[in-house]
Amino acid sequence: VAQLIAGNWKMFKTAKETISFCSALRARLEPVEGVDVVVCPPYTSLDEAVGVLAGSGIEVFAQNAHWAAEGAYTGEVSPPMLAELGVTGSLVAHSERRQLLAETDESAAQRIGGVLDAGLRVIACVGETEVEREAGETEAVLRRQVEAVRAAVEAGDRPRLTVAYEPVWAIGTGRTATPEQAEEAHALIRGILDVPILYGGSVKPENAEELLSQPDVDGALVGGASLDVESFASICETAASLSRL
Ligand code: PGA
Repeated sequence: VAQLIAGNWKMFKTAKETISFCSALRARLEPVEGVDVVVCPPYTSLDEAVGVLAGSGIEVFAQNAHWAAEGAYTGEVSPPMLAELGVTGSLVAHSERRQLLAETDESAAQRIGGVLDAGLRVIACVGETEVEREAGETEAVLRRQVEAVRAAVEAGDRPRLTVAYEPVWAIGTGRTATPEQAEEAHALIRGILDVPILYGGSVKPENAEELLSQPDVDGALVGGASLDVESFASICETAASLSRL
């Protein structure tokens, strides 16, 4: 099975920057073979990304979505609005949203339901903080988060669900989980919910191969290194070469 490499741009790249980035990425990667590639731009760049990447096989996901199809929720964006643009999925419950923007297991579960109901795919993010890891709570935290995700998804929708394990202490810090730490967490998650599991947290061209070659690692969610065409493309190529083995 092909690995999935998703680029989480966070709050980076204007619409204009998106057009030049996506044109260059497409030119660099085409034909995209042996790897599933997703980019997650900010809302204001989604339309441009979908337009430039149409027909390339590179998919465009949002970084978040509200759970309702429409309603009095000032400032929010709904899954059907995303679907109409040609967006094919959304991240849900990224740790920055859990930590800074009041995301909980409950709101994550609602979002997952809304996104799946609109026919879109979900990458649901889980992961322990440094304090939790040091207190020996990693397993309990992952179990709680992953069980909330599992409960939100009907069996028939499971093929559209991916989980991303992102230890919070490894995000944007340059500190990556060791391949053994990643594998241990992925195996635990797979025991609760058997869907593709991405690793995220300071993935770069230099460490992609050792992380992606772990048996329970099915791809990567890449933040900082996804903002540069060359480094993101190089991680995609590493994934493609592993799927050929
Ligand atoms: P990072 O971010 O690769 O910059 O650590 C990963 C993420 O937050 O998804």
